[in-house]
Amino acid sequence: TLVRGRLLSFLRRPEAIDDTASYRYEEDGGLLVEDGMIVDAGPYAAVRAMAAADAEEIDHRPHLILPGFIDTHAHFPQMQVIGSYAANLLEWLNTYTFPEECRFVESAHAARIARHFYDEMIRHGTTTAVAYCSVHKASADAYFAEALKRGMRMVGGKVMMDRNAPQGLLDTPETGYDETRAVIAEWHGKGRNHVAITPRFAITSTPAQMEMTAALAREFPDLHIQTHLSENRDEIRFTSELYPEAVDYTDVYARYGLLGPKSLFGHCIHLSEREADAMSEAGAVAVHCPTSNLFLGSGLFPLKSLSRRERPVRVAVATDVGGGTSYSMLKTMDEAYKIQQLLGERLNPFESFYHMTLGNAEALSLSDRIGTLEPGTDADFVVLDAGATPAMALKMEVTRSLTDELFLLQTLGDDRAVRETYVAGRPMKAGL
Ligand code: GUN
Ligand code: FE
Repeated sequence: TLVRGRLLSFLRRPEAIDDTASYRYEEDGGLLVEDGMIVDAGPYAAVRAMAAADAEEIDHRPHLILPGFIDTHAHFPQMQVIGSYAANLLEWLNTYTFPEECRFVESAHAARIARHFYDEMIRHGTTTAVAYCSVHKASADAYFAEALKRGMRMVGGKVMMDRNAPQGLLDTPETGYDETRAVIAEWHGKGRNHVAITPRFAITSTPAQMEMTAALAREFPDLHIQTHLSENRDEIRFTSELYPEAVDYTDVYARYGLLGPKSLFGHCIHLSEREADAMSEAGAVAVHCPTSNLFLGSGLFPLKSLSRRERPVRVAVATDVGGGTSYSMLKTMDEAYKIQQLLGERLNPFESFYHMTLGNAEALSLSDRIGTLEPGTDADFVVLDAGATPAMALKMEVTRSLTDELFLLQTLGDDRAVRETYVAGRPMKAGL
């Protein structure tokens, strides 16, 4: 298949708004797709010349084609938690989230919500997500089975948690370990699935369970690890009471061998300089979840200052649904922009779109496969229309530059701006 449109993809993180060498833009571009892969990309005429004469052609002009969005932190069992009225993280978890996650003991319920989760990903242009399932192995089975059905590259894990939650949501150090191993054996590398080692956070794991996660991390050094870190002041205080021997919250995870280059730490809002240095040294990733941080009143993530440190911390961006309030990576970056404004920083539109695509792929160490339109990578891409709504079309009348078009997409855009979402070369949104 030959797909025609305005191509935009990143080669590295943009250093400034005029850093035109950080991205590739093709006004009349073509992508040649075969067997789920991009085999050629560039000016339409050149790619057309490479393609078979009878190759099917899909013309998306005048819309933009970008690599599919990547969401590096979400909770699929929280689709019916989104928009729950709570004062802060711990109240929200106890009042809404934990009771809701208990329902995922039923595999039929898990399968139903998994279908909805993938529908929303595709609707919003997200082709890869990194998600927490619930504590129940059935939830991970449902999550990965649905990914396999749709041919999507997805990362996820059975949550491990053995204290400070309702009985129906607890495993044990042994069952958490055994079931995580079973999920890895059944799903990792099957289709495009990646299993992540997933202790929920220090508050809900005993030291005995943390020892078991350490064992998993040693046995499976290539797997992603995901957990939560330094989201809320009360959470930080409670964690230091539960782990008095650790020098700070980050050190709890470091002590159990969980601080490394495949580790994704949700939130990281209130890190000390020592913690940021430790993250930097380990190559661990701080995952910014702006809509969630504002919704739960957790705080303002120092995205620009963490990246600009002498010892920079790797950062990714994510929705954190259902603490987050939108499935859209466009809306996510709109809120990220506003948080930086409150911190006296500017996040330019190229940086934002870098983060949603290549930046998140780099954070997952998957930029050889996704987050790019380079030949040889997966044909996961999204078609964006900056004039998708009446209000957007009106603003487009006076929009003259690519910079302004991207900023309009980010500021007013949502799923309506996503004209099509291609997964492994196949258009998925039209069929929803
Ligand atoms: N910390 C531990 N669990 C969660 C969760 O489900 N959502 C958020 N935002 N923070 C958490
Ligand atoms: Fe989360």
